[in-house]
Amino acid sequence: MQNVLILYYSRHGSTKKLAQAMARGVEQQGLEARIRTVPSIPDYLSTQSAVPQSGAPYVSEEDLVSCAALALGSPTRFGNMAAPLKHFLDSTSSSWLKGALIDKPACVFTSSSSLHGGQESTLISMMLPLLHHGMVMCGIPYSEPALHDTKSGGSPYGATHVAKNNDARLTDDEITLANAQGVRLAALAKKLAGQSE
Ligand SMILES: Cc1cc2nc3c(=O)[nH]c(=O)nc-3n(C[C@H](O)[C@H](O)[C@H](O)COP(=O)(O)O)c2cc1C
Repeated sequence: MQNVLILYYSRHGSTKKLAQAMARGVEQQGLEARIRTVPSIPDYLSTQSAVPQSGAPYVSEEDLVSCAALALGSPTRFGNMAAPLKHFLDSTSSSWLKGALIDKPACVFTSSSSLHGGQESTLISMMLPLLHHGMVMCGIPYSEPALHDTKSGGSPYGATHVAKNNDARLTDDEITLANAQGVRLAALAKKLAGQSE
């Protein structure tokens, strides 16, 4: 079965909640949602542990190479992605050299504390390395009614959550949009795989 790699970093749980909503969308399309994370920088430096104490397993290069599509999620940090995720991406030159991700669809998602605190710049910053990898970026089209209605997160650039004071509870519209993004990513993965056969 094809799998969609849902790779996120989350310190307070909001980005993780978006990843879970997206995974449900992927599974609605009949694909495996492979949820993976990366160690925090202190954990990475201190333990180099291959297995986190709880939650999703750490991502491996094999996860990246074998996925049919990738959803990448990070908290907004000063309008940019979090360092642990960037650190992982900076370790992927071997996959880049092999062209392992070329023509695979990808999408991005984020959580920030404030509504205008840099979600869109973070999403775009996350797209850049994926474009270098040759991935085909997809967002959320305005045919999704929740994109017009949301009073919190959700953008055409990708699913988002506005956490205010680290409140990880997603609104109904945020869940709907993360779910729709998962459905769309998995559907595109199936279509692209079909065309290459
Ligand atoms: C170093 C740092 C920088 C941050 N920068 C921003 C920011 O630019 N804009 C914003 O709205 N929130 C910012 N935040 C808040 C986080 O984006 C917010 O708490 C997010 O929901 C955390 O996601 P998580 O629950 O998945 O860890 C920052 C937090 C930290 C620790």
